[in-house]
Amino acid sequence: MTGIYFSGTGNTKYCVSKFLEYYKNVFQTEMYSMEDDICIEKLKESSDIVFGYPVYYSDMPMIVRDFINAHSQMFAGKNIFIIATMGLFSGDGTGCSARLFRKYGANILGGLHLKMPDCIGDVKALKKPLEKNREIVKDADRKIKQTVRNIKNKQFSQDGLTFINRIAGLLGQRLWFYGKPYRLKEKLKIDYEKCVSCGKCSDVCSMGNIKMIENKPVPQNNCTCCYRCFSNCPKKAITLIGNKVLEQSTIDKYVKI
Ligand SMILES: Cc1cc2nc3c(=O)[nH]c(=O)nc-3n(C[C@H](O)[C@H](O)[C@H](O)COP(=O)(O)O)c2cc1C
Ligand code: SF4
Ligand code: SF4
Repeated sequence: MTGIYFSGTGNTKYCVSKFLEYYKNVFQTEMYSMEDDICIEKLKESSDIVFGYPVYYSDMPMIVRDFINAHSQMFAGKNIFIIATMGLFSGDGTGCSARLFRKYGANILGGLHLKMPDCIGDVKALKKPLEKNREIVKDADRKIKQTVRNIKNKQFSQDGLTFINRIAGLLGQRLWFYGKPYRLKEKLKIDYEKCVSCGKCSDVCSMGNIKMIENKPVPQNNCTCCYRCFSNCPKKAITLIGNKVLEQSTIDKYVKI
C-alpha cells in the first residue's frame, strides 16, 4: 500500500505513517505528500492506496479536491482506503472524497475517522491542554492499530461512508458552512509590526500562496487554510479565522516523531 496525503500541521501525515507502519510492520514506509511532484508518479504505479487528509468544515480541503480532480484519470481501478483526521466531528469526512473517487472509477475499500488535536490556533472553541492533546493522539494511535488488525482479517472500517454519515455531514456542518473555505481563501492576515521577514511562512506554504515581495511576505489570495504558516511563524504574526494566536499546533508537540 502506498500512502498519499495532505497534511497542514502534521496530524494526517502522522496517522497515515502509523497506518502504514502497522500495516507493513516496518518503520520506513512509502508515503508521499500531494504537494510533491513525485507523488503523481507513485500514484500511477500503485494499485492500493491509503489516502489521507484533514477535514475542513466537514469537507475536503480545497487543495485535496483540486488534486483529485486534476488527476481524475489516474484513479480508475485503484483500491483506496481513506483516512480523514478532525478536531472534533465530521459526519462524512471520508465520504466526501469517496464519492469523487467512485465517480472516477476507484474502488473504495473503507474509511477511518480519527480525532486529532485541533489545528485552528486562533479560535478558542476547541483548544485543549497539551496533555489532553497527547492523550488524543494516543487514542488515535490505538484506533489505527485496531483498524489495521481488522483489515488483515479482511474487515474494513467504513467510517464516514454510509448514507446516514452523509446526512450527518450535510446537516451537522456543510449546510451551515457552505462555501466557507472559498471565502477564507483571501482572509490570511499578517501583522507586519511583528513580522521579521524571515520567509518561513513562504517556504512552508502548501499553496505557494505567500510570496516574499521586497522582503515582505504577501498573501496571494489562494489559501487552502491549512494553518501551516500560522503554526510555523516564529513571531506569531499570522492569523486566519480569528485575530489572535492562541496556540501554534504542530504534531511534534504531542508526540515523539
Ligand atoms: C479551516 C479548518 C476547518 C476545520 N474544520 C473542521 C471540522 O469541520 N470538523 C473537525 O472536527 N475539525 C475541523 N478542523 C480541524 C482539523 O481537521 C484537524 O485539526 C486535523 O487533524 C488537522 O490535520 P493536519 O495537521 O493534517 O492538517 C478544521 C481545521 C481547519 C484548519
Ligand atoms: S514566518 Fe512570520 S516572521 Fe517570518 S516572514 Fe512569515 S510572517 Fe514574517
Ligand atoms: S497561506 Fe498559510 S494557511 Fe494558507 S495555504 Fe499557505 S501555509 Fe496554508
